[in-house]
Amino acid sequence: MSDEKKDILPGAMANVGPRKSKSTILVAAASVWLSITVFLLWARTSQIIIQDALGIFTASSDEICPQLAPLVPSTNAEIWEQVGQVYGTEEFKNKAIDWLGGAVRVPTESFDKMEPVGVDPRWDAFIPFHEYLHKAYPLIHSTLELTKVNTHGLLYHWKGSDSSLKPLLLAAHQDVVPVDPRTVNEWEYPPYSGHFDGENLWGRGSVDDKSGLIGILSAIETLLQKDFTPRRSVVLSFGFDEEASGVYGAQQLSKALLAKFGENSFAMIVDEGGGYSTNAGAVIAVPAIAEKGYLDVRIEVASPGGHSSVPPEHTSIGMLASLLVLLESHPYEAHLERNTPVYGLIQCVGAHSPELPGSIRRAIKRSLHSDKALRDVEKEFFQNPMFKSFAGTSQAIDLIQGGVKSNALPEQAWAVVNHRIATQSSVGAVKSRDTAMLSHLASQFNLSYSAFGELVHGHSGPAYGNLTLSDAWGTALEPAPVTPTVKDAAPFRLLSGTIKAAYNSHRDLKDEDEVKIAPGIMSGNTDTRYYWKLTKHIFRYGHWRMETTKLPGIHTVNEFIVVDSFVEMIRFYATLILNADESDTI
Ligand SMILES: *[C@@H]1O[C@H](CO)[C@@H](O)[C@H](O)[C@H]1NC(C)=O
Ligand SMILES: *[C@@H]1O[C@H](CO)[C@@H](O)[C@H](O)[C@H]1NC(C)=O
Ligand SMILES: [Zn+2]
Repeated sequence: MSDEKKDILPGAMANVGPRKSKSTILVAAASVWLSITVFLLWARTSQIIIQDALGIFTASSDEICPQLAPLVPSTNAEIWEQVGQVYGTEEFKNKAIDWLGGAVRVPTESFDKMEPVGVDPRWDAFIPFHEYLHKAYPLIHSTLELTKVNTHGLLYHWKGSDSSLKPLLLAAHQDVVPVDPRTVNEWEYPPYSGHFDGENLWGRGSVDDKSGLIGILSAIETLLQKDFTPRRSVVLSFGFDEEASGVYGAQQLSKALLAKFGENSFAMIVDEGGGYSTNAGAVIAVPAIAEKGYLDVRIEVASPGGHSSVPPEHTSIGMLASLLVLLESHPYEAHLERNTPVYGLIQCVGAHSPELPGSIRRAIKRSLHSDKALRDVEKEFFQNPMFKSFAGTSQAIDLIQGGVKSNALPEQAWAVVNHRIATQSSVGAVKSRDTAMLSHLASQFNLSYSAFGELVHGHSGPAYGNLTLSDAWGTALEPAPVTPTVKDAAPFRLLSGTIKAAYNSHRDLKDEDEVKIAPGIMSGNTDTRYYWKLTKHIFRYGHWRMETTKLPGIHTVNEFIVVDSFVEMIRFYATLILNADESDTI
């Protein structure tokens, strides 16, 4: 991070840091659902006029967000029933509370800008966590092969009997967002208490993401208790710095996975992400099939210093301010396009949310073929900023600094613009757009302009100063490849059916299509950013119940999980393992 060395006030950077994933993964996914709910509320109470008259209805209803039947294990039916019975007992619920509570009670905080493992003593927090896992899951640790990657990354291999089958990869992260000491007394129960209040289990990590990690391990431990031996290998990959961008954990794990298994070697990956919600008149599960990209652009202006009693027309700060005003007055345009994940999501909302007004539902259907209807749908949905942000690239000026003294001309001023890149765009497109946007003003200010390592334009004569654009921390990330869905993709079908089977299994629902599956989008990033080469079939989904009445405090105070919902997560992972095990199509 050589840029920082040039900072006039380097100390001010200490608490800024690169690329916080405070963009919270889970909140991002939950917000998909929240925003649908908000949209529905809004749509119901406003006057919506969408011209219907000209739309000719050509789409058959099964073209829109097709749903598949629940997928109940068949070869593995017996073991599935056995573990299902176990999960339904009070005894198991208490066990689940112990397992998750114990994990929450070991604080495993990760911080931005940590020194490497072996140098930064804060990584030692993971040692007692591993000891805990070892004690809590004796069968896993006597059966699965465990490799520790970069000391704290956990890579478990549960070897199947048929090595021709691509393994199933289940991912989760061990680390949690630090608890701000100033907020400890705002917690209803202490943040690392793992307290069970009779309904909910409290503490940092109870959702994000110890529920996933412990959910996976608990499912496997119970399958082992019933002597299940897999045909298809199951691999577990647990990073330890997801909340600080995953460079020591998932990035190293991905190298180990590639070395051991090779490219495209996994049938599918399931990592943390969306869940399901029971709001808006339907139960809709939102496994994320896409992640937006990421770019922090640093804009730096340098110009001659001097005493401010004889000032130039524009100082570095003044010029930077003009550049920022220009950017903000030209937001990225967002359009709803067919063949994008957000369009698929809207199709599903249209098809399966009974509370959505008929006129909107009809427009959504017609938009498959009518551009006019597509624009109408865009107009309606984009009134909700969340949908708009899923569709387009966003920009937000999040940092600014410049100047040292009120009587000295600032030699340098800089700002950082955070972009979340649309799934159909790219890092390159965003760089070009920002570069072009500021070009004219750079000339007007007589600045020599270079962007991302290239000179954009110099000056025939000497320039007054410099404008430099750069990737602020070198953390640019392309949008993730979009995971294929229904028609052509067996893994998506398997996941869909599994979600439905897990949901139905303890509700006395048999073949009923109670849960609808809507492919979602993450506006934040997960550890899967490092796993693209392992498979095309990546899902960010944890089968947790996304509450909208009471927010589960993810990344803030009062994080908690409803224990019944956690037990259902365990059912989900067990069902997924058994379905994947017997599948001949993934
Ligand atoms: C602009 O950049 C050039 C080349 O790096 C450098 O020589 C010059 O001093 C810079 N100007 C200012 C005002 O910082
Ligand atoms: C640009 O700035 C330099 C240095 O102050 C000056 O010599 C030159 O005349 C300026 N050019 C224009 C076009 O303003
Ligand atoms: Zn997480």
